[in-house]
Amino acid sequence: MPSPVCKPPPILLFILLLFLSAAVESVEQNNALHPRRSPFRPRRTPYPFPPQRPPHNHPKRPPPNNKNINNAAELEKREFLAAHNKIRLFYKEPPLTWDHTLALYAKNYFRTQRYNDCQMIHSTGPHGENLFWGSGKHWKPSDAVGFWAEEVKYYNSKANTCMNGKMCGHYTQIVWRDSLRLGCFRGYCKNGSTYIICSYDPPGNFVGEKPFDSHV
Ligand SMILES: *[C@@H]1O[C@H](CO)[C@@H](O)[C@H](O)[C@H]1NC(C)=O
Repeated sequence: MPSPVCKPPPILLFILLLFLSAAVESVEQNNALHPRRSPFRPRRTPYPFPPQRPPHNHPKRPPPNNKNINNAAELEKREFLAAHNKIRLFYKEPPLTWDHTLALYAKNYFRTQRYNDCQMIHSTGPHGENLFWGSGKHWKPSDAVGFWAEEVKYYNSKANTCMNGKMCGHYTQIVWRDSLRLGCFRGYCKNGSTYIICSYDPPGNFVGEKPFDSHV
């Protein structure tokens, strides 16, 4: 008994052929409507899509560890620390940490003793101390630290000596291994100049000792 599936009626075959030829024609027409792009044809200007929305989880606030980043005092403190610790890291020395008491000490010394005369006179207190003075108000923490650190060119680390007539003590205090805490103040003298004090503890610059050695 012949199976009807193997022998479709001729009318069905005819419809199928019609359908296939129509499909081929449509593909050819599509190709004709979209010829290959000529290299001489100018590129279409891109469609002006609406601007992309930020991702759904786009943070609206800075990350938590930067929550004080707009606080000027915090920024200044970070700059003092970073400027010092970049140099200390170069010598594989422990980084300084910020000490609020040292910063207050520097601030008080400036307010009570140096605001009026703006002189480079040390407080001769129990801490290490670097002083900087600059005309105008644009001097930043990294300017002062960079200025002190430039003394490295006068310093002979093998002999632990400084070139005649030059200063090296600001630099050696920055890199003094046993100093672990830092507190600085930046302010303006009465006459408008910038004054910067950094205090270090434990103090450095002991005569006869090398800055890169540990003495504790
Ligand atoms: C401010 O005082 C310091 C120290 O006396 C001095 O060197 C500097 O020239 C003064 N600056 C101005 C703008 O008067």
